[in-house]
Amino acid sequence: MPARTDAPANPFKWATRAIFVVGIYLLCSFLDGIKDRWYVFTPESLHALAQAAVREHPGDIDAIIPYIVSNLTAEYPSSTIALNTDSSEWVLSNAGGAMGAMYIIHASITEYLIIFGTPLGTEGHTGMHTVDDYFNILVGEQWAFDPPNLAREVYRPGDVHHLPRGGVKQYKCHEGCFALEYARGWVPLMLPFGLGDVFSSTLDYWSFYHTVRITARENIRNFLVGKI
Ligand SMILES: *[C@@H]1O[C@H](CO)[C@@H](O)[C@H](O)[C@H]1NC(C)=O
Repeated sequence: MPARTDAPANPFKWATRAIFVVGIYLLCSFLDGIKDRWYVFTPESLHALAQAAVREHPGDIDAIIPYIVSNLTAEYPSSTIALNTDSSEWVLSNAGGAMGAMYIIHASITEYLIIFGTPLGTEGHTGMHTVDDYFNILVGEQWAFDPPNLAREVYRPGDVHHLPRGGVKQYKCHEGCFALEYARGWVPLMLPFGLGDVFSSTLDYWSFYHTVRITARENIRNFLVGKI
């Protein structure tokens, strides 16, 4: 059928579209307004925990991780939140041009908590996200570049690098670093950043499969205790 270029403009079609756009906007504002209902962690308590771990076991990531996980399991009863205590469950991660690996401690729709890092160092784009991100350095250094400030930002063990929602920087995990990364907001909107490289670059379907499997499993475990 030929395009009906001669058809008169239909005001109802434009009204429907306008209502649709306004509806999406209202839905997003509503979801944005309620997201903090499900937050369990606070950036402050996780920062205090990361600092305590760094004080107890400076430079020793193999001791820091169990310290953090046992603190979290003691602080947060399994009736309020599901935590993944299997610290051998690492997956490789490629995103924004940077590469490292992560151990997912907690994943729900509104929060995640992971250990992220690499002993090799890596560098890339933070990505632009709908979440607030708190990168608590455990070992090594993270550097960041946030023009027009031309001096590099340096974050050391015990420091937290807060990247507010919508913020973008260049970052570098300098000569190897590991961090306790906490993100809060609507997490599913980040997934294309975290997972997209498998299709456009790495073809590492093995890591993709395990990342999706663990994330889905932890989301379901949290959902079952009423934590979204
Ligand atoms: C967990 O770590 C925090 C921060 O260091 C501390 O205040 C809290 O007492 C610890 N909880 C347990 C159960 O060890």
